[in-house]
Amino acid sequence: MAGGVKPTIRPERLLANLGYGSRKEAARLIRSGAVCLGGQPLTDPAKPIPRPAPGEMMVNGEPLDPLPPLTLILHKPAGYVCSHRDPEGGPDIFDLLPPRFRLRDPRISMAGRLDKESTGMVVLTDDGQLLHRVTSPRRHLPKLYLVEVDRPLRGDEVEIFASGTLVLRGEEDKPLKPAELRPTGERSATVELREGRYHQVRRMFAALGNHVTKLHRQSIGALDLGSLEEGQWRLLEDAERALLDTES
Ligand code: URA
Repeated sequence: MAGGVKPTIRPERLLANLGYGSRKEAARLIRSGAVCLGGQPLTDPAKPIPRPAPGEMMVNGEPLDPLPPLTLILHKPAGYVCSHRDPEGGPDIFDLLPPRFRLRDPRISMAGRLDKESTGMVVLTDDGQLLHRVTSPRRHLPKLYLVEVDRPLRGDEVEIFASGTLVLRGEEDKPLKPAELRPTGERSATVELREGRYHQVRRMFAALGNHVTKLHRQSIGALDLGSLEEGQWRLLEDAERALLDTES
């Protein structure tokens, strides 16, 4: 558990922080007998309790949601925005998670976005230090993308992407860092990036006169999306969180 976390907590506060409702609603839930600790219903919402171990507390017969720090990966489908709300009113990735996750404190944020039409791995966490380590431009954490384009590859993409001289429109003074492209077909490739500029993969291909028709993020650091189905999510184990932190 992170330093500074108190060993005890008021149950009403614990539930409110996990998104079960306002402090008042949580207190009401507890007084109704719906919250059990070690098999016994809690009665006093304000009486501090030790932070419960996984499976120790039940709410309405269901295990309490995981306490912070919480880190998960989501296989984002196309059409969902990586945001807490789509300004255009469409679905966002929190619609794919339990509704309580939107309401947690500390807040769950994404460690690196994908654009609306892209698919693949999105990491979400309430752990500010992990968030910083995964997104820090100084870390150069590799991200692997599977790309499909609408025109046949020219043949010089490998060299141009690897050169460290390619510039994006509007960023002429900031050449891109070398990126590794591996053709996988006439119109498909994998691209490994070690930086994350706005719509970077799409803009890299646009700079060479091509157009990305499909973009999928397969891995971040040493953590691979694996067989997680589109639209599904899962919590990460500690060992997997470490993979996320691994540079190569
Ligand atoms: N590059 C893009 O163009 N879009 C993404 O979502 C990620 C990388």
